[in-house]
This record gives sequence, structure tokens and C-alpha cells, in this order.
Amino acid sequence: MDILKSVLTALENHTGEWISGGKLADQFDVSRNTIWRAMNNLIAAGYPIESVTGRGYRLSSGKDVLSETGIKLNLKRPDAYEFDCRGTVDSTNRILKELARDGAPSGTVIVADSQLKGRGRFGRTFHSPPGTGIYFSFLLRPEAYHVPVNILPAIAAVATSEGIREVFGIKNGIKWVNDIYIDDRKVAGILTEAEIDLETGSQAYVVVGIGINVYAPLQSFPEEIKNIAGTVLDGEPRPNGRNRLIAAILNKWDYYSAVENIDECSRLFRERSILKGRDVQVTIGRTTYPASVIDCDDKFQLIVEQIDGTRQILSCGEVTLSL
Ligand code: BTN
Repeated sequence: MDILKSVLTALENHTGEWISGGKLADQFDVSRNTIWRAMNNLIAAGYPIESVTGRGYRLSSGKDVLSETGIKLNLKRPDAYEFDCRGTVDSTNRILKELARDGAPSGTVIVADSQLKGRGRFGRTFHSPPGTGIYFSFLLRPEAYHVPVNILPAIAAVATSEGIREVFGIKNGIKWVNDIYIDDRKVAGILTEAEIDLETGSQAYVVVGIGINVYAPLQSFPEEIKNIAGTVLDGEPRPNGRNRLIAAILNKWDYYSAVENIDECSRLFRERSILKGRDVQVTIGRTTYPASVIDCDDKFQLIVEQIDGTRQILSCGEVTLSL
């Protein structure tokens, strides 16, 4: 894995440029044959690498291929996750819940290039076209987390926000409880679903599903979301961009879901909130009311003030920005 990673990093650092196999062999102190094998492994994993005798190897720009190898190369704990990367699926959350009921272990991850029935919160759908987004779900059994289950959605928001910042250097905000926004446009949504074991009353499993509009879709966003949805990047696809982002989010998840880092996580969650001081509509069950947002507290809850001055502390529900 190490030489694969080194070769991939060298190619990425010179995307679109030729690098000679001999030079790479000298740089990493391995044989040319080892470099050749590493290139073949990367090509088999879906990397768009060209090779020409006398010039060497080149990672083509403008393509971003999802692959297990590409994700694992960037993971801090590659052995903690088991990936299943697919093309088009109905919904990664649905598939993973089915696998969870059949006994899949914590750390199982389903990644798809597109979804036909991407599921959103409150029964909505999540637009999931091919080639431009990230749609993945990971499974947590109770032994895999040591914080209250109700804060897992907020931790996922912080991990996603931080992942986007780390990989693409782009500032983004969190709209309570776990939508990611850039310039007042939603670029990512998270759906966390849990099943309870009725025998013991304890959590059987939690599925965290994350959907991100990384690049502009080939066809524009559908009418109903075209004034709300945005993308993380405007330009052409970056080689390995989606793999690096998935890995970064899982790395951040490992860090921020650790009990000792929860305070830092809640501080970031509060700092990144785009709602402070804004007017919103709060929906809880069938009730909707206007309010203005005061702040988030250190338990990832939203403090809102109703028109009559009454304050509410929300731990669940939905808020919509008033325009
Ligand atoms: C929302 O914004 O309402 C939540 C959207 C969550 C979408 C992701 S994409 C991967 C995973 N699989 C699904 O079917 N949904 C989630």
C-alpha cells in the first residue's frame, strides 16, 4: 500500500504532466518493475493513467474515478472500514440497512456513483446524478461509538464540513442540524437512520448516509431544487477528488466522534452554524412557527426565540430559512 500511495501522490502532484518510471523508481528507491506494478494496480482501481514509452506516466486531468483503493490510500485507519463501491444503486442507506439486518459489521461502507432513489430527511428524495457527487453510507454498531446516539447526526455534519475544508480548502457552513451550505446554497445533506433491538431496547445499528454535490451535474439541478442546491466546486473534476473527500470525512468522523473530542466538535458545530441571528420557520411534527435563531448550545441543540419572546431549545426538528 505504501508504494501505491507514494506513486499516487507523485502523480497527483503533477496531474497532466509526464513523470518517468525511472525517476520515480530512484525517488522511492524501488525497482522500475515495482513502479510498473503500482501503475497497473492504480489503473485497475480506475485511475486515468496514461503510459507512453520514453515519456513515462501521466495522470489525466478532468477525471475523478471513485474506487476503494483510492479511498483506502487516504484513510488513517484503512482496516477499520470495509468498502463496497458500486455504480448506480437505488439508495446506499437502504442497501446498508439490509446488510446490517443480515449481520454486516461496524465499518461497512457502501459507496455509489449515482442513486435512483436517494433518500433525504423527512421522506424527501436526494438528487444523486452520476459522475459528479458522493453518495455513501457507513454502518455503526453500538460498540463503535461512545457518545449519545442523538448527537451522531451533528458529528457527521462537522466531519463533512471539515472534510470539504481539508480536501478542497473551501469554507462552508452548517445549517442545523446537518446540511452543509456554501454561499447560501445546500451542497450536502446527511440522513442518519437507526434501528432498535426490541428485545433489549438497545440500538441495533446506526446508518449514516452522506450525499454531496461535488461538481456541477451534467444536466442542471431539477426545477424544485435549482434555487437551493449548489456544488462544492465549479470547475472540472479533480483526479481522486471524491475518493479523498470520502476518506477525509471518515478520518474526521473517527476523530470527532471520540469522547475526548466532543467539546471541540461542538465548538466547531457552533462556529460553523449559518443560522445565528437569522429568521427561520421551525417545523416540529405537524407544527410550524416563525422564530429567530439565537445560537447553538454545547449539546448541538438550537436555541430559537419565538415572536412573543419565548425561547425554545430544539434537539430535533427542521428549520427553514425565511427569505
Ligand atoms: C437530506 O438532505 O435530506 C439528507 C440527504 C441524504 C442523502 C444521502 S446520499 C447517501 C445516503 N443514501 C441515501 O439514500 N441517502 C443518503
